[in-house]
Amino acid sequence: MIRNQWYVILETREVKRGRLLSVRRMGRDLVLWRDTKGMVSCMSDRCIHRGVALSAGKVKGDCVECPFRLHLPVVGRIARGIP
Ligand code: FES
Repeated sequence: MIRNQWYVILETREVKRGRLLSVRRMGRDLVLWRDTKGMVSCMSDRCIHRGVALSAGKVKGDCVECPFRLHLPVVGRIARGIP
C-alpha cells in the first residue's frame, strides 16, 4: 500500500447510516460510518487508548464512540478526553 493514496475498498452503498462497518483491507482493520450529513468516514478500527475495536462501539452524531469509554468521542483521527 502506498501511503496518502486513494484506494477503492468497497461500494458506498455498503456503509449504512447509524451503523459501524468493520473491514480488513490490505492487512489493515478499518471502521467506516456515515456522519450526520451522509458523508462516509474511515479510520483505523483501533481505539488509540487501549486498542479495542472501535467497530464494537456505536455511531453517535458524527462520531464513533469507543465501547470501553463511552464518553470518548472519536472523529476522524482526532480523539478527545484520552485518559
Ligand atoms: S479503549 Fe477506547 S477509550 Fe479506552
